[in-house]
Amino acid sequence: MEPGALSAREASHGGAPAEGPTAILGAMPEEIATLLPALTERRSERRGPFEVHAGRLDGRPVVLAVCGVGKVNGAALAQQLLADGAGRLLFTGVAGGLDPELRVGDLVVSTDAVQHDVDVTPLGYELGRVPGEPLAWPADPWLRAAAVQAAGEVVTSGRVVEGRIASGDAFVADPARSAELARRFGAACAEMEGAAVAQVCARWAVPWVVIRSISDTADHDASVDFRAFTRVAAARAEAVVRGVLARLDDPATAPR
Ligand code: ADE
Repeated sequence: MEPGALSAREASHGGAPAEGPTAILGAMPEEIATLLPALTERRSERRGPFEVHAGRLDGRPVVLAVCGVGKVNGAALAQQLLADGAGRLLFTGVAGGLDPELRVGDLVVSTDAVQHDVDVTPLGYELGRVPGEPLAWPADPWLRAAAVQAAGEVVTSGRVVEGRIASGDAFVADPARSAELARRFGAACAEMEGAAVAQVCARWAVPWVVIRSISDTADHDASVDFRAFTRVAAARAEAVVRGVLARLDDPATAPR
């Protein structure tokens, strides 16, 4: 390697030492329910409209917070935490499965994330594209690899899929809509924050990954399934977040 050149890991810098703590975001309290009690040296502070919990999770410095549902809430909290100096961002929670192979409890690690409800088509842009920005914002390769490895340990039954996240301000509960999102965007799952957070991270050049466990399959049963399975599914994604943290800066467990 050229002197001064970045290794692949440093270039993606998801796993490289970052100045700031790892930001961990969930949309709902249920989505960080197992992480919050595990936080040591906890200091909770209001940052703008958000309650942000700083501390250590399994020894690593983190900031943990709930953003609320939807793209605006996700973007607002991401902006706050990145402005406060977070070095990388992990979004954890549940999603509706779009890939027909996915079942409740399966895990999706983001390859990238698209905003399926953006429509500037009258000006000639493809559906989902914010003018001047990528159609889908790519997740950090190192964090993806770490999440997939960690998920392999957490998910002993069920599948771990790397796929596109489709985000929008809608709870998808209709098989025709699900099929359309899967077909048009090639998305694995639907949720309501990931791509907005990704867009903010891209602006800051801060590495990110979304880790989602399937709570429902975005069909007519979605609202019932969502209520029944969110807590259990969310806990799986949270366990993967801890697996990612364990791999940070640890050559023994870092993905290659
Ligand atoms: N989060 C969990 N399930 C979802 C769905 N079906 N649509 C949007 N967001 C979700």
